Amino acid sequence: LNYNINRERSYILQVLFNGLRRLEYRGYDSAGISIDHSSDPNSLPPSLVFRQEGNIESLVKSVYQEVAETNLNLKECFAHHAGIAHTRWATHGEPAPRNSHPQSSDPGNEFLVVHNGVITNYEALKGTLVRHGFTFESETDTEVIPKLAKYVFDKAKEGEGDQTITFSQVVLEVMRHLEGAYALIFKSQHYPNELIACKRGSPLLLGVKELNENSSSGSAFHDDNFLSKSGHPKELFLSSDANAVVEHTKKVLVIEDGEVVHLKDGGVSILKFDKGKHGGLSKVASVQRALSILEMEVEQINKGNFEHYMQKEIHEQPESLTTTMRGRLLRGGSCKAKTVLLGGLKDHLKTIRRSRRIVFIGCGTSYNAALAARPILEELSGIPVTMEIASDLLDRQGPIYREDTAVFVSQSGETADTLSALDYALENGALCVGITNTVGSAIARKTHCGVHINAGAEIGVASTKAYTSQIVVMAMLALAIGGDTISNQARREAIIDGLFDLPNKVREVLKLDQVMKDLAKQLIAEQSLLVFGRRYNYATALEGALKVKEVALMHSEGILAGEMKHGPLALVDENLPIFVIATHDACFSKQQSVIQQLHARKGRLIVMCSKGEAASVCPEEWESCRVIEVPQLEDCLQPVVNIVPLQLLAYHLTVLRGFNVDQPRNLAKSVTTQ
Ligand code: G6P
Repeated sequence: LNYNINRERSYILQVLFNGLRRLEYRGYDSAGISIDHSSDPNSLPPSLVFRQEGNIESLVKSVYQEVAETNLNLKECFAHHAGIAHTRWATHGEPAPRNSHPQSSDPGNEFLVVHNGVITNYEALKGTLVRHGFTFESETDTEVIPKLAKYVFDKAKEGEGDQTITFSQVVLEVMRHLEGAYALIFKSQHYPNELIACKRGSPLLLGVKELNENSSSGSAFHDDNFLSKSGHPKELFLSSDANAVVEHTKKVLVIEDGEVVHLKDGGVSILKFDKGKHGGLSKVASVQRALSILEMEVEQINKGNFEHYMQKEIHEQPESLTTTMRGRLLRGGSCKAKTVLLGGLKDHLKTIRRSRRIVFIGCGTSYNAALAARPILEELSGIPVTMEIASDLLDRQGPIYREDTAVFVSQSGETADTLSALDYALENGALCVGITNTVGSAIARKTHCGVHINAGAEIGVASTKAYTSQIVVMAMLALAIGGDTISNQARREAIIDGLFDLPNKVREVLKLDQVMKDLAKQLIAEQSLLVFGRRYNYATALEGALKVKEVALMHSEGILAGEMKHGPLALVDENLPIFVIATHDACFSKQQSVIQQLHARKGRLIVMCSKGEAASVCPEEWESCRVIEVPQLEDCLQPVVNIVPLQLLAYHLTVLRGFNVDQPRNLAKSVTTQ
């Protein structure tokens, strides 16, 4: 934008806007920001609040326009400047400026709050606050929080005369009344140059950047004045996601539940808030922990030469799969057997092998990945494997036993339903294993052990590379749990060879890009697409249909081919496109028969088969049948290759239909509310 705003003076804006851009994939229906505006150091700086419906760029535009037009005097530079910003995925209240964050305590904006999560007792709190004379403007659950802060502050002032309550005390008191999940940042005109953040359930981290620093990594982080002690000028960042911080610093502190972070004049202190037995404040202690170092590069969260994140993430799968397997697969030197090493599980493998059952728990794409891995885990371990969609397990309060191993699969490691299911499994005494892509995420921290998929940051809302890496990790899990017996040695070795070969096979299948684009052109105006798969590729059918549905906004349904005659066949006619996955495995002849039956009913077929087998799935005389040939590999790894053409199809369909492929309507990458 070509507004003539002094760069130094707008630094705070640039930091906040860039942060929001990095977080936009988590929610993008409206956004807001608050910064200070003051030229008079003796007065409290009035906070400026901007809120806008739509994406981040609409907010950016409106803020710069107003700043330029009204010649606002932004508070000098960034030193001692506290600003907050938020991008929203609506839960309570439609996307509209009044429902965007920061939410405010009163027209004078005495207290402002940005919130990630859901306050479950907000109606009761709202009732009480209304009785105390507060009027509400929004339909959000969040609005009770700044109003409660003002109530606490006013009460304290009334009672204590000149004695002032500290910002931390206000927030600690507010937290005592909140139920639900939250990560919050508070800003207040009563506490200029201060911010308070706190959390319970939702993710939050603090980034610490010391300017001109030469201090070493992992330095001890001390409670009160680590930063003032160090003597360096500094910038501090609070965010729900490392993506917003990594371009500034890699030194972070993952904030734990119940902690209250106080930033004041560039210094930091952290208190731990524990709810006492009767809901009272039992203990407030200061916190001391080491900073950790983010293992990610800022390039990872850029689009590079691609037009969209989803496109980039589909095409980088050969590399992400290689990283997932790095250091974990051993293929004999001398006489060593081929084997798998999963460091995060090594102390728990015996317990897992003794489990009565393994339960996979996840949502969305992560659930589908687990479903793809289920047959190989059953085969190699001999242990019954059951599947649970996290919300459904919670709804049913399904049985989980001490003798169970519960495996939680989540790209973000923060999905609220999966996290609640984890709490539930922990309460029931199961051994809990996490499979996530996010080091330091809640699921990674709360599980007893686990494996990181190391796929690199995934920004596109529709998961692609995380899906394939999750399957690979679970195939390695099956190898690690399954006994290394003579009878299964050949099978194990074939799978390990297949894993080594997998990145090349994915590279090969990515060459179908243009073929899938051509197919997308033919399907562009369709209302619906059915995807049939079975055994290892039932998951492929579900995941392929999910991709088409979520980004191309086309109805699509994944169908277990064995169920065809029990309903879906009624839909078949010469118009409805049907995608059948029929790559070569033990169920191939059954899939051939499915294809025959669909053809007999004039089904409009698109068949995915193994290279060289086109004629055996789709005889030449069937003119309307389209065939997509993919490289063949070990059956349990085939879903990794088979999903790629469907990812490409969904991508191209979306772009051709003119929809936003990285930010599909109404969805969010990381669903941290239930
Ligand atoms: C959301 C995302 C999906 C994802 C699901 C589970 O719905 O849009 O892409 O598969 O959450 O997320 P998780 O981070 O737990 O894998």
